[in-house]
Amino acid sequence: MPTITSKTKILGVIGHPIEHSMSPIMHNTAINDLKLDYVYLAFDIEPQNLSKAIDGFRALNIKGISVTIPYKEAIMEFLDEIDPIAKNIKAVNTIKNEDGFLKARNTDGAGGKRSLIENSCELSDKKVLFIGAGGAARALSYFLAEDVAQIIFLNIRKERSKLLAKELNKKTGVKTFANGISNNTLKKFCSSSDILINASPIGMYPKINETPVAKEFLHKDLFVFDVVYNPLETKLLKDANEIGCKTLGGLDMLVNQGILAFEWWTEKIPKKELMIHIVKNVLGIK
Ligand SMILES: NC(=O)c1ccc[n+]([C@@H]2O[C@H](COP(=O)([O-])OP(=O)(O)OC[C@H]3O[C@@H](n4cnc5c(N)ncnc54)[C@H](OP(=O)(O)O)[C@@H]3O)[C@@H](O)[C@H]2O)c1
Repeated sequence: MPTITSKTKILGVIGHPIEHSMSPIMHNTAINDLKLDYVYLAFDIEPQNLSKAIDGFRALNIKGISVTIPYKEAIMEFLDEIDPIAKNIKAVNTIKNEDGFLKARNTDGAGGKRSLIENSCELSDKKVLFIGAGGAARALSYFLAEDVAQIIFLNIRKERSKLLAKELNKKTGVKTFANGISNNTLKKFCSSSDILINASPIGMYPKINETPVAKEFLHKDLFVFDVVYNPLETKLLKDANEIGCKTLGGLDMLVNQGILAFEWWTEKIPKKELMIHIVKNVLGIK
């Protein structure tokens, strides 16, 4: 580990709680590998201290901040400049401090889109089906809306998916549709979609035998992306692989959102494989 000196620049992540965050290990591994004079720390901020923490980042000249649950929305009112897509998403996860001027982006959605492109998923004019209408679906759908033809949301709470679909269409112009999740809607929309994205926690450890979409509804021409990263191969991905679909797991998106932040702060490109390796090791996932 490089020596920390009086010139070392500070990066960090804020959230509450924060102990689970993969960001410090991921970023410090890249910092050490590239021999950069940075250090990345974790800050557990109590909700009543959020605005004081922002003042502290400015006062202490902390160069870059990742933002995790529960502050991705709440922090926005304290910042100076928010990228237009992040403004539409209504959530940011990355802040850059330029001499006290705090700029913010959403690299969750951008990271997921980069993962799809890097894994040869054709986006142009495609029909995308999302399972879930929470934070991950919101962030990713706003970035995909730039390229795809139509986005459909199926969610337990139908009103939530309808609201997201309506807003997304209004802000981006992409064709949208939303409904509740049932065997009927899954069957109908899976068969007519090109890309299926699970943006719900279904199938996540420890409930690894659950899947949001029954195998019988999948077809071999679907590209199946599961944002869940623990386990690496969820039941949904296993079923999709057996059918012959192209598939992608959530670890790639997790690492890509970190890479996009790292590149923005340091203007250096970290090694993706190294970051994937360290996260897998820490999580103990296979
Ligand atoms: N790979 C990555 O980088 C990355 C990034 C962000 C999130 N994630 C993962 O993505 C998942 C969702 O995260 P999020 O931040 O979007 O959470 P969120 O904001 O709480 O949204 C969760 C969504 O899933 C739906 N849902 C929850 N339980 C369900 C169930 N049993 N059956 C059907 N739908 C269910 C919810 O439906 P209701 O609206 O009806 O409650 C909601 O639409 C988590 O597993 C998270 O770890 C991965």
